[in-house]
Amino acid sequence: MIRKTTFLLLAFFALFSVTAQNRLTVQVNKPIAHIQPTMWGIFFEDINLAADGGIYAELVKNRSFEFTKPLMGWKVQQKNFVEGAVQVVNRPEKEDTNPRYLQVLLQKASGHDLGLTNEGFRGMGVKKDITYTFSVLYRQSSPTGKLNIELVNAQNEVLGSTSLTPEMADNQWHKQAVSFKSNATDPKAKLNIWFEGDGKIDLDMISLFPSDTWKNRPGGLRADLVQLLADLKPGFIRFPGGCIVEGFDLAQRYQWKKTVGAVEDRHLIINRWNTEFSYRSTPDYFQSYGLGFFEYFQLAEDIGAEPLPILNCGMACQFNSAELVLTGQIDPYVQDALDLIEFANGSTDTKWGKLRAEMGHPAPFNLKMMGVGNENWGPQYVERLKIFTKAIKDKYPDFKLVNSSGTDPSGDRFDYLNGELRKMNADLIDEHYYRSPEWFLSNARRYDNYPRTGSKVFAGEYASHCDNSFVGAARNNWKAALSEAAFMTGLERNAAVVSMASYAPLFAHLEGWQWAPDLIWYDNLHSYGTPSYYVQKLYSTNKGNKVVPITLGKDVVAGQDSIYASAVIDTKTKELIVKIVNASGNKAVKDIQLEGAAKLAKTGTLTVMQSGDMKQVNSIENPAALSPKVQSFSPKGKTIKAELAPYSFAVYRIGL
Ligand code: AHR
Repeated sequence: MIRKTTFLLLAFFALFSVTAQNRLTVQVNKPIAHIQPTMWGIFFEDINLAADGGIYAELVKNRSFEFTKPLMGWKVQQKNFVEGAVQVVNRPEKEDTNPRYLQVLLQKASGHDLGLTNEGFRGMGVKKDITYTFSVLYRQSSPTGKLNIELVNAQNEVLGSTSLTPEMADNQWHKQAVSFKSNATDPKAKLNIWFEGDGKIDLDMISLFPSDTWKNRPGGLRADLVQLLADLKPGFIRFPGGCIVEGFDLAQRYQWKKTVGAVEDRHLIINRWNTEFSYRSTPDYFQSYGLGFFEYFQLAEDIGAEPLPILNCGMACQFNSAELVLTGQIDPYVQDALDLIEFANGSTDTKWGKLRAEMGHPAPFNLKMMGVGNENWGPQYVERLKIFTKAIKDKYPDFKLVNSSGTDPSGDRFDYLNGELRKMNADLIDEHYYRSPEWFLSNARRYDNYPRTGSKVFAGEYASHCDNSFVGAARNNWKAALSEAAFMTGLERNAAVVSMASYAPLFAHLEGWQWAPDLIWYDNLHSYGTPSYYVQKLYSTNKGNKVVPITLGKDVVAGQDSIYASAVIDTKTKELIVKIVNASGNKAVKDIQLEGAAKLAKTGTLTVMQSGDMKQVNSIENPAALSPKVQSFSPKGKTIKAELAPYSFAVYRIGL
């Protein structure tokens, strides 16, 4: 009898504990934190041909002949070789902005006697029936004739053509443009310019833009890539990086003032990723700054994201040259920061506000925050940061500053900076982690014990990195994305601590990348979001504005049985949103009990990403192979029965 009772008791407790283990509780009416509108954002850096050759839709490479090798990307075509027919000339009066141009000597040229061919960025992606605008800066003292312009494919078949007769002959520089259509789609077209006539003509800023740019802006951005960003509904956009802010040395640092104003006066420099990795050397990688700070602000406005520029703090990359400016000579750097605020927000009577207006945006961009330094570390950083902080806060007390905590999320450098920055009451501390999927899974509790008061965290660069047997776009697999989804439950749960987060890097050209994984991949015509992209999108489009507790017993749900969960409510739409990751290969069934919910809608939407293949990727051919699938679900009373497929990420959304 005693034995039977013991057995029954044991069975009861076993059943109870199994049930308890499968019961998650959401306290719908007990919000524990406010979620910042900026919570989920994007990180833009000009790496992997993200700007030139990427989102900046210019098709001509080295349009102003300023690459280290002035004719890189160009081929001079001559039927009969004439010495000096095409020469690169220096222009002393524009040494700081646009030092070189091309001088062409025509000797009764016709047909294919003399021409120039531009290869584009790994070819030019052109589309059937789309209009292309060819433009050029020219100077001639007497009429030389005309330029015959054509787009050709690899077989030299003409896809579209036109001609341009330079109208002015007063020995001054003039811009002229002409448009024509392509009669075919081709990912690897080239541009030919055939000269017809006689005499001497100077040429610069030879450009070809598609008309189907984002918002059809002339000289604008690639619409498919901006659309992918807009679809994320990002809370902020960080730009222009990344290490590009620091530069290999100070001469190569990003200087925003050199990226605004007329495009021909933006001084091109080498891109630091040109030479950074010998195994991914990219000798033709430069920064034309056609995408400059005005365009970044405009992009932010277009996609509804808060702009977050990061500025150089007077230190170059400490992994490279570690060059730094002495604190006694740091004023111009600090002035750049103050002037940027004026450029973004100042009245049109101010010097920099006036420039913004002249560039087409009299209204302020409403800049509220800025980063000082990227991945800089050590006492040298703190010393410089204090100077910036004082100058900026003295003038703009409400302005928020992002401060670097170095390159790694732990270790002596991190501990030192984290301590110093918290003593300084830093607004936002920028943490970076490029780590293994296992790290992401085991760090879902990272912020559970961070201080709730004082400095907030900006998870400014992160991505899950599978081992090096995965190369390029193959690194953006489901294993990486699922571990990010799991980790992000911890970011969301700790919205009291984490105000902003962004995956990094954002973009990569399939034929021009240096760093992988990346959120979005593309070639010259197509683009796709990786599984990580869709994970980001599920968070940012299911953001909510209050965190509510979701627990297993008394504990947060952060890896027990490989389950990770977070819950938020959206008080505006009156919905509860629960995110759950099953990071194991076994199906799991969980009862999610909604405590404190006065009422519940009869049905809700369930959005799921799932694959049993951890190597699963998306691709140009199959861009949405692994992407969210939407269905509906019905709760039973106040319980959602969550049937979690192996290796899945599910988002439950239901009206309250
Ligand atoms: O995102 C690529 C690089 O990673 C960034 O430039 C840098 O900040 C980090 O080390």
